[in-house]
Order: sequence, then structure tokens, then C-alpha cells
Amino acid sequence: MGLNSSFGIILVPFFFLFFIDATRVLPPKLFDVRNYGAIADGKTYNTEAFLKAWKDACAYHGRSRFYIAPGTFLLGSVTFEGQCKGSMAFILKGTLKAPTEHSKFSTATWISFRYLDDFTVKGGGYLDGQGKFAWPYNDCSKNSNCGPLPVSMSFDFVNNSRIHHLKSINSKNTHFSIFACYNLDINKVRITAPEDSPNTDGIRIGHSRKIKISSTVIGTGDDCISMLYGSEDIEISNVACGPGHGISVGSLGRSHEEEYVSRISVKNSSFIGTQNGLRIKTWSPSLYSLASDMNFEDISMNNVRNPIVIDQQYCPFPPCGIWGHSSSSAVQIKNVKFRNIWGTSNSKVAIVLKCSGLMPCQDIELRDINLVYNGPGGRATSLCFNVKGSAYGKQLPPPCF
Ligand SMILES: *[C@@H]1O[C@H](CO)[C@@H](O)[C@H](O)[C@H]1NC(C)=O
Ligand SMILES: *[C@@H]1O[C@H](CO)[C@@H](O)[C@H](O)[C@H]1NC(C)=O
Repeated sequence: MGLNSSFGIILVPFFFLFFIDATRVLPPKLFDVRNYGAIADGKTYNTEAFLKAWKDACAYHGRSRFYIAPGTFLLGSVTFEGQCKGSMAFILKGTLKAPTEHSKFSTATWISFRYLDDFTVKGGGYLDGQGKFAWPYNDCSKNSNCGPLPVSMSFDFVNNSRIHHLKSINSKNTHFSIFACYNLDINKVRITAPEDSPNTDGIRIGHSRKIKISSTVIGTGDDCISMLYGSEDIEISNVACGPGHGISVGSLGRSHEEEYVSRISVKNSSFIGTQNGLRIKTWSPSLYSLASDMNFEDISMNNVRNPIVIDQQYCPFPPCGIWGHSSSSAVQIKNVKFRNIWGTSNSKVAIVLKCSGLMPCQDIELRDINLVYNGPGGRATSLCFNVKGSAYGKQLPPPCF
């Protein structure tokens, strides 16, 4: 009896230690979609099998891995929802292929993740959006009844999560959409679509905070990265963009009044043959908003049509005066720094700062700018309206304020 009780005293603390750490110490549990009936033949719809596997993986108390083996899996439009019971990883080794029949892709997203925390997407595999079957349906500029084409992968209400080692090709619309997320780390992602594919933004961010994008290569038909209303604390570094329309903030001010954009940084990145480099765009006229505290630093431009652009007169389909009285943008742009930006401009006007007459841009800094124009008509120039700012260090083109 004496023996028994002393064992009890020794064992109890060890038991607790093990119990508390069990979910970290145990190897993660694998949920292989093939065990749920998924077939990697590229022609069987696997949506049901994926949803069953997700249900089990999400309900597992502990670390779970939703596993997609090498091979090509055809997958219809699907939403993977939390909240899950433990830390969850979506491991894509193979290729997910999107539907090609129009009736199967009239949805807002192809693969959607929602309400997740401590979630990882990785594996080195491919999302193949099969965009060429859908791009002809992108006729919204002519047809007001047009339906949106699906975003390849969207994250809505996802916190403290990571997306890395993933490739997206030929999305039908945007490749990745980030909405209402907090603390996401995106790195080593590769995004590809043809230069002339319509509306294929690389990564589109809205209403989200603390998003980090690094070591990512994006060549696509629209913006490489776009940051819309409510984007805050966005850190972009070591991104190569091109072809594409550049990295942009906006368009702001069309809806979502007072959802501000602030603390954006783009560092050590390059633009190759893009339509724009760094761009801030607001509607004219617009609702009131604020876009402030942006830092663009150590950026190379290689044959970029418009390397630096602030455009507060954005109105793609005029007339835009639906708010009546004023035709100026009411978005205040403030504290924006362009530092150490060099390379070649494909147009003579390398810097365009067209700010609002109603809300002139404030605290714009240009420091160490060296943008060369090699075409006919002389050296690069800059163009300003309604800008208050200062210039330091080397300035080519000469600053316009
Ligand atoms: C994400 O964080 C927000 C607050 O920052 C919280 O309201 C929300 O419930 C969280 N979502 C998940 C899925 O954990
Ligand atoms: C800047 O980018 C280059 C090339 O993309 C990379 O080799 C280098 O490590 C980066 N520097 C920093 C400080 O991240």
C-alpha cells in the first residue's frame, strides 16, 4: 500500500505534463482526401470527398493535416469553414483543377476558407483556375447583367494563419482574396496568368490588418497586389511583379466611407515590364476617406510604363459624378514616402502625382529617385497637381513640387 501511494504521487505530475502537451507532442493526424473517395484522374468531381475529409479534419482535437496527394484533382466550387477544434493545415502536393463548364463556375469563389484561426496552406502544389474557359465571359464593361467570375482562393475571417509554397495559375478572376483577416503571413507563393487575362489580380486585400507578403513572384493580367478600403499594417517585401498593373492602393472612395488605409510598406521589390509600379488611386468624386502612412522603399523598375502614380481623378467610365456636387476626390492622401526608387520608365512622365483639389496630398516625400527614360523626346519628367511635399537626395526626374 505504501508502494502504491508513492507511485501515485510520482505519476500524477507526469501524467499532467503529458496531457497538457499532447496536442503539440503527438504527430499531426493525416486526413487524406483519397481515403474519402477523391480520385486524382483530373475528371471526377471531388467536391463531396473534400468536404467529408474537411469535416473530420476540422473536428479533430489536435493538429490535423488535410492532405492532397500528388496528382490532378478536379474540384468544383467549395467552402471550407471553421471554426476547427485544433491547428489545421491544408497540404496541397498535387494540382487542384477548376471546372471549365460555365454552369459550374458561376460562383463568387472557387475555393473559400472562412472562420479559421491558426491555419496553414502549403505543400508546393498548384491551383489551376482554368481561366481561359472563363475569360471570354468577362464582359462587365459592356454587359450590366454580367456575373462575376470566381476568385481562385479566398480567405474570409481568417486569423493568425500562413500561406506558403503555393502556386496559382490562370485564375478566372483574382487569384487570392483576403477579406476581414488578421495576421496572415504569405510567402513563397508564385502567381501566374497571361498579361492580357482580364481582372486577374494577384492578391487583393480588403478590410484586413497585419498582412505580410514576402518572397513572392507575381506575373498576371491585373494588379499584382491591390489594397482596398480598410487595409492596415500591410508589409510587402521581396516581391517581383510583372507582367501586371503593379502594386496598388485603391481604388478608394467609391464606397466604404471612413474605412481607412494606413501603414502600408513595400520594400526591396521589383517591377518588370508592368503597366504601373507603385500606384495610389481614388475615385473622383468620392466619399470621405483617408490613406496615410505609406512607405515605398528600395524598389527597382525595369521598363515600367508609369513607375510612380498618385491618381485622384480615377473615373474609368465617365461621367462619375453620381454624388452630385463635387467632382473632386474627398480621399485625403497623407504621409507617403518614396525612397530609393531606380530603374527605367517606359514613358517620359515617370512620376505622376495628380492629387485632389479638394484635399491636396500632404507630406509626400521623394528621396533618392533615379528613373531613366530612354525613348524619344528627352529626359524623364514629373507631373504634379495639388501636392505638398519635399524632395531629398538625387532626383531624376526633377521633382515637380
Ligand atoms: C479573428 O479575430 C477577431 C478579432 O480580432 C475575432 O473577432 C474573430 O472571432 C476571430 N476569428 C476567428 C475565426 O478566430
Ligand atoms: C532583397 O531582394 C533580393 C532579391 O529579391 C534578395 O536577394 C535580398 O536578400 C533582399 N534583401 C533583403 C534585405 O531582404
